[in-house]
Amino acid sequence: MSTEPPPIEVRHVSKAFRVDGRFVQALRDVSLMARAQEFVSLIGPSGCGKSTLLNIISGLMEPDEGVILLHGKPGEQRLGRIGYMPQRDLLLPWRRLLDNILLGPEVMGRDLEQARQEARELLPLFGLQGFEDAYPATLSGGMRQRAALMRTFLCKQEIILLDEPFGALDALTRRTMRSWLLEVWARFRQTLLFVTHDVDEAIFLSDRIYVLSPRPGHVVRELTIELPRPREERVVSSSTFAAYREEILAALGL
Ligand SMILES: Nc1ncnc2c1ncn2[C@@H]1O[C@H](COP(=O)(O)OP(=O)(O)O)[C@@H](O)[C@H]1O
Ligand SMILES: [Mg+2]
Repeated sequence: MSTEPPPIEVRHVSKAFRVDGRFVQALRDVSLMARAQEFVSLIGPSGCGKSTLLNIISGLMEPDEGVILLHGKPGEQRLGRIGYMPQRDLLLPWRRLLDNILLGPEVMGRDLEQARQEARELLPLFGLQGFEDAYPATLSGGMRQRAALMRTFLCKQEIILLDEPFGALDALTRRTMRSWLLEVWARFRQTLLFVTHDVDEAIFLSDRIYVLSPRPGHVVRELTIELPRPREERVVSSSTFAAYREEILAALGL
C-alpha cells in the first residue's frame, strides 16, 4: 500500500453554529480521508452535518477545531482547488445548457474555446447531446443533475465533492444515475467524496463508506466495500450486498 499522504484528509474537525443565541453543535471530532482515485461515501441521517462537512472541506467555511489536509499539508488555500457540487445546485435559468456547463471553466479562467470543444465531445456521455441550447427549465430533473455534474467534472480538479446529487430524483431515475455515475467516474478517475442518505446507493458506488451519527455528526463506522468493479445493478441482490446493508443499518441504529 502507498505511503503517499492522501489527497484529502479531515482531521479532528468540529463545528458549531450559533442559532438564536444558542450553540448548535453540527460536527464533533470528525476524522476521515480519501485516497487517490478512491470513491468514498459519507452516509448519515438528515441534519447530522454532512453538508457542513463538505462546506468545510471545500474551503467555503472554516472548522472551529481540526484541520483539512491536502496531500498531507494544511489546506489553507483550498477554495477553488476542490470541485464541489452543493446540495442545492442551481443551474442559472437564463443561461442555455452548454453555457451553464461552461460556467465552471469560465469562473476558473480556463481557455473557453477549448473547454467548449471538450464539453461538446462529452455531451453524449452525459446524455445531453442535442440539448446544448435548451434552457434548464425545459429539461427533466435527471438531465439538470447530469448537467450540474458535468459542470463539476469539467473543472478537472483532483478532488470532487458531491452532496446528495440524486437526492431530489425519483427512485427509478436514481438507479439509472448511479450506474451512469460509475461510468463517468471510470473515465475521469478523480477522488470522489459522495454524500448520501441512501444506503444502497452508497454500497453500490463506493470503495469505502463512513457512517455518521445523528447530530453532532461523528464517524461511527468505516467499511471497505469489496464488491468487484465494474458493478452492475444485479449486485444489489447478492448476499454480500445484503450483509453490507445490514452492517450500515445497524451502525445507523436502524
Ligand atoms: N449556516 C448555518 N447556520 C446555522 N446552522 C446551520 C448552518 N448550516 C447548518 N446548520 C445546522 O447544522 C446542522 C447540520 O446541518 P447540515 O450540515 O445541513 O446537515 P445534513 O447535510 O447532514 O443534513 C443542522 O442542525 C443545521 O440546521
Ligand atoms: Mg445536507
